[in-house]
Amino acid sequence: MISTDEQRGLFWLDTPSTSYVLQIYETGHLILLYWGKRLPHEDIRYLYPCYGGAFCPNLFDAPNGYVCPDTLPLEYPTFGLGDYHEPAFYARNPAGDRLCDLRYAGCRLTDGVQTVPGMPHVRAAQAPAQTLELTLRDPRIGVTVRLYYTVFADSDVIARCAAVRYDGGETLVLHQAASAHLELPDGRFEAIRLPGAQCREREIERTPLGAGRLILDSRRGASSHQMNPFLALVRPKTGEETGDVYGFSLLYSGNFRICAEQDQFHMTRVQIGINPFDFAWRLRSGEEFWTPQAVMVYSGEGLGGMSREFHRLCRRRISPPAFARTHRPVVINNWEATYFDFDEEKLAALADACRELPLDLFVLDDGWFGHRDAGNSSLGDWTVHARKLPHGLEPVIRAFAENGLAFGLWVEPEMISPDSELYRRHPDLCLHVAGREPSLARSQLVLDLTREDVRTYLLETLTGLLKAYPIRYLKWDMNRPLSNVGSSAWPAEEQASLSHRYVLGLYSLLQTLTARFPHLFIEGCSGGGGRFDFGMLYYVPQIWTSDNSDAMSRLKIQYGTSLVYPPSTMAAHVSAVPNHQTGRITDFTVRGDVAACCCFGYELDPRALIPEEREAVCAQVERSRRIEPLVLEGDFYRLRSPFAGNDCSWMLVSPDKTRAVVLYAHVLSRVSEPADRLCLRGLDPEKRYRILPGGQVLSGAVLMAAGLIRPRFHGDFQTCFYELQEELANGESQF
Ligand code: GLA
Repeated sequence: MISTDEQRGLFWLDTPSTSYVLQIYETGHLILLYWGKRLPHEDIRYLYPCYGGAFCPNLFDAPNGYVCPDTLPLEYPTFGLGDYHEPAFYARNPAGDRLCDLRYAGCRLTDGVQTVPGMPHVRAAQAPAQTLELTLRDPRIGVTVRLYYTVFADSDVIARCAAVRYDGGETLVLHQAASAHLELPDGRFEAIRLPGAQCREREIERTPLGAGRLILDSRRGASSHQMNPFLALVRPKTGEETGDVYGFSLLYSGNFRICAEQDQFHMTRVQIGINPFDFAWRLRSGEEFWTPQAVMVYSGEGLGGMSREFHRLCRRRISPPAFARTHRPVVINNWEATYFDFDEEKLAALADACRELPLDLFVLDDGWFGHRDAGNSSLGDWTVHARKLPHGLEPVIRAFAENGLAFGLWVEPEMISPDSELYRRHPDLCLHVAGREPSLARSQLVLDLTREDVRTYLLETLTGLLKAYPIRYLKWDMNRPLSNVGSSAWPAEEQASLSHRYVLGLYSLLQTLTARFPHLFIEGCSGGGGRFDFGMLYYVPQIWTSDNSDAMSRLKIQYGTSLVYPPSTMAAHVSAVPNHQTGRITDFTVRGDVAACCCFGYELDPRALIPEEREAVCAQVERSRRIEPLVLEGDFYRLRSPFAGNDCSWMLVSPDKTRAVVLYAHVLSRVSEPADRLCLRGLDPEKRYRILPGGQVLSGAVLMAAGLIRPRFHGDFQTCFYELQEELANGESQF
């Protein structure tokens, strides 16, 4: 997988279908020669002939006087030598110097993955992995940067991170240290990103890259609804299944930045890591700083190829192994059923109404603690609401258990309400800037997770709850972005490190809690999908994809999310109509079909279900269990984009291609609709499949080339859902 050609100064990182080739340039700088389709090992040093750039400084010790750092495809560029791009590394030493000249100082090859202290990282799995460590050094200022590259025998993804060490005396202030940086040799790219808002997460936007810097980032303290930590650079003709894609993401849940910069020679530099805005990390002599890990993939098979690589990586090497590929509880959640308005009696009635519904688990959402009757109190006081639940949680848990449902609980540990006992006792435990009133969002403040005493309080409080009650499932919410990022626990010179320390604090809390309760299933949430990233997905197997539960809105949200994250990470529920967010009315079946390929559940009042709907629940849950292996392990294909037209379609194919499911959704009804065939993907052309409903048997070849004819719809917001099963030669199928 990784080989070194010492004579030529080359490092070959080969994945099953790609090659990433680095060279120690004659000046000692590390440059990227090639990244793309897999290459045979030949002498490819000709790819970057040494040339100087017009109006650019040359390196002082360049062999023939003409090596210009501005035109070298530097792998970890620095500031000050005459490279005017965004640097990967920027720091100020005690003398005030920012110039740094990192040159190659050694390499090390190890078996296995690279771990990152205190942060999520790709995990070891069955298939082997190898890690290359490349050391760059500037002895003059005592800076050493170690770049780590992990490649896998079963994946085209490359995981990267960097460690910065300082040995120059006193303190170095680090402002910028990219997780990954690289340069591609041309600029004929379009950029695909996932912007959004609450209830409108991860919309797909595709634009020409153009000259200058494209910055995608978050300054909100969380990865955010507004921009997901993801960028794909694609060729103008790249589609779902064909064409070049370079995809980038990050195992990080805080302020990130991705920069794609097309320069004067139309070369493209890409950089991903912690957002350097408002970031300063002090390194005393002898200390190290680790960046979060980035993951990047080249696919020659279009966006679908990229997504499937990220999906497999997430399932096998990011998600918590105990839950990644095991049965997900089909939940019913009371948020949209009751909001804050419930008590023991009402919950008992909900439990009764669940009798004979084949659900696995009830989640008691917000409002069960302190004196929380609305969104303006009690966060921080994680004791049971005495008026609503005078006998504690036991009768609620019992009532659901009697009807066959396990119990899950909503918590929002990172927050504190000004109207809480905790705040009255310790007003300084929230993030705040000395002498200023912190700003409220949803009437709440953010706890200072950079403080160990705060983390200990949360750990012990959650431990108390989890020990007191048989809680199988936690919904871990985070309902506001960070602001007033200051802490009385840290000295003045550390204040600009706090956003990162907050994320480290969160990870440490999640790490300790999940180690203490290895069977606890946690669903992530942040006002829906405001912290949907590979960092959180290292600790939680699934995330509530959006607070928007409307089926038609969910087409776009789930389709956009699937660009990076597998369906097994997206929680999707059937909710009541008119939908609480959009006011739209859709059929119960349609709501079930749109949620079916994700982690399935309900977000409604079971007392309000009419008999036909109760029957539909039984059929939907039965289907969800039947198709769950595909949701957990299947390959996802996007067939029709809801961003491009009036319909949406996706499908899942089992790894052995014996089974598949297809969703087709038609948004608005149109008269004299153009003729249309839906060509499937990912099937085995040689296999024959029985298609339900209908029972027709067709080969994979026909289904992929000629396609299905979808039914004619009458009325808006319609779906059909197909299940395909291989039909064996003797006419048997396993339906
Ligand atoms: C957030 C979540 C919702 C619900 C509410 C409760 O908005 O996304 O699902 O839990 O909080 O306050």
